[in-house]
Amino acid sequence: MVDGKFEERNGDTDDADSFWDIALMQHPEEKLEDEGDEDHTINDSEKQGGKVTLYRLPNTSITLELAQLPQEEGVWSPVGCDAWYASALLSCLVLQDAEKAIMADEFPSGGLYGIFPPVHDTSRPFQVLELGSGAKALSGLAATVALSTMLSNRFPSWTVTLTDNEQEVLHQMKRNVATNQSKIISAEASNIDQVINVEYLDWGTDFDEIDHEKQFILDADVVLGSELVYTEETATALVKILLTLLKRNSGVSIWIVQVTDRHGWSEIVLPTLESHPGVIVDTIPLTRELHDTARTLVPMGGALDQYAFGAVKVSNAA
Ligand SMILES: C[S@@+](CC[C@H](N)C(=O)[O-])C[C@H]1O[C@@H](n2cnc3c(N)ncnc32)[C@H](O)[C@@H]1O
Repeated sequence: MVDGKFEERNGDTDDADSFWDIALMQHPEEKLEDEGDEDHTINDSEKQGGKVTLYRLPNTSITLELAQLPQEEGVWSPVGCDAWYASALLSCLVLQDAEKAIMADEFPSGGLYGIFPPVHDTSRPFQVLELGSGAKALSGLAATVALSTMLSNRFPSWTVTLTDNEQEVLHQMKRNVATNQSKIISAEASNIDQVINVEYLDWGTDFDEIDHEKQFILDADVVLGSELVYTEETATALVKILLTLLKRNSGVSIWIVQVTDRHGWSEIVLPTLESHPGVIVDTIPLTRELHDTARTLVPMGGALDQYAFGAVKVSNAA
């Protein structure tokens, strides 16, 4: 258990898997408010939605203000109402990679992990897609910060598309993007070369039926996702969209971080991808240092430890 407040709120201290409870947990930044540090946490705000938390993004000078989807008394909130620890891990991977990607001599493949390729065809915008972003879209927004603050020379023009299939979640996500957009993108670049989109996208959709003008979402260069699989349905739908994305752009790289024993991940997603001709699944190491940084953004939660989390890169064979 990470802190006493969680035990008080939920009562069940023996719960070995806090997946469905974790959105109720106290955030480290919220603790600061209890300690009288008013600079770190903003109280519930009518303007932005539910409780607002500040996320100081590592390797940058940017602090995001992201609001939860407001919880209604007695009503179960969707799983995407808050940011999960896996999204903090993915954000740290993205930001660490962007920082290394700048050092072209030391990291010729584009960074420590290669999330941001060393070269890109500048005749079209570099495209990032976040799947199942949740209301806070923390990893997708971390990618926008990486592109706008660290990699603007390499990728002068980019689009980051944040997606989900829950309307309430999308609504809150839009509010969060509106609140933070001006700190991420300069007014001149906004809507011209650097664009953050929020779009409905269900992984199980018949993709031919997506509006013609929105089809570009599926041609992403980099795809991000955290804590996406937790049921057979989410696993089957995720496989469907991942195979579509791999088919649409042969150079796409897909980065997913999640608790590996959630139902569907090891039983459906990994074996299907690993046995699919031409698809490569690489395991990405999640170092102690990365976990230490991720914990400053979001608490790990429940009875989990760092070994519960895994990260993979999915791509086409060269
Ligand atoms: C556990 S939450 C994770 C949210 C966020 N990625 C994070 O780590 O903080 C899973 C998210 O995936 C979304 N989701 C689940 N099934 C989906 C589907 N078939 N298509 C699109 N989004 C889906 C949910 O609405 C939810 O926002």
